[in-house]
Amino acid sequence: MIQVHPIFQTPVFVVELEGLTDELGLAEYIAKMCRETPGTFGAGEVVQSRYNLNQDPKLAPLCEQVFQTVHSLMRDVYRYKPGYDIEITGMWGNEQKPGCVFNAHIHYNNVFSGVFFLNSCEGFPPITFWRPVESTLSPMTTQFNVFNQGSSRFEAKKDTLMLFPSWLRHSVPINQTNTPRLGVSFNVMLRGEFYNTMM
Ligand SMILES: [Fe+2]
Repeated sequence: MIQVHPIFQTPVFVVELEGLTDELGLAEYIAKMCRETPGTFGAGEVVQSRYNLNQDPKLAPLCEQVFQTVHSLMRDVYRYKPGYDIEITGMWGNEQKPGCVFNAHIHYNNVFSGVFFLNSCEGFPPITFWRPVESTLSPMTTQFNVFNQGSSRFEAKKDTLMLFPSWLRHSVPINQTNTPRLGVSFNVMLRGEFYNTMM
């Protein structure tokens, strides 16, 4: 009998906030903020709004949900000591137009990152998370599981708030629908005492 111990786990946190997008009029607002973005984006690139929407009163109820979620997962999942200040260091809108992709990336200099999805559409591409350390050889498998899968996908569903560790690499494949895919992304930093340093 072989005992199998999954010794390290990577959490992705999902909270359904039904009705929040429409309540705040966020889909129209974020699309507008993305259109007003100065600067240039190449063809095929996702358009992003300015990065300080966490200071925009219109986004305050979403920020409050992020604070509550981070507070809970720190206490109940990570078992961090109480006393950290939770700071949203950045929040911005994303518009993934038809034909555009989110290339794989991580979010530097923060502890948690996340996204709130503002619309749903049949055929929207899923957010895809990638295994942190790729194995050098990948034998063929009969079934994917937590030990052999290289990636994990989640459907982008309206009113879903998703949080994950900032170091977790993620991407979104090409949007093959005719509908722009809208979301609000954010970063969260914890302020207080860390091992060997203060942040
Ligand atoms: Fe991201």
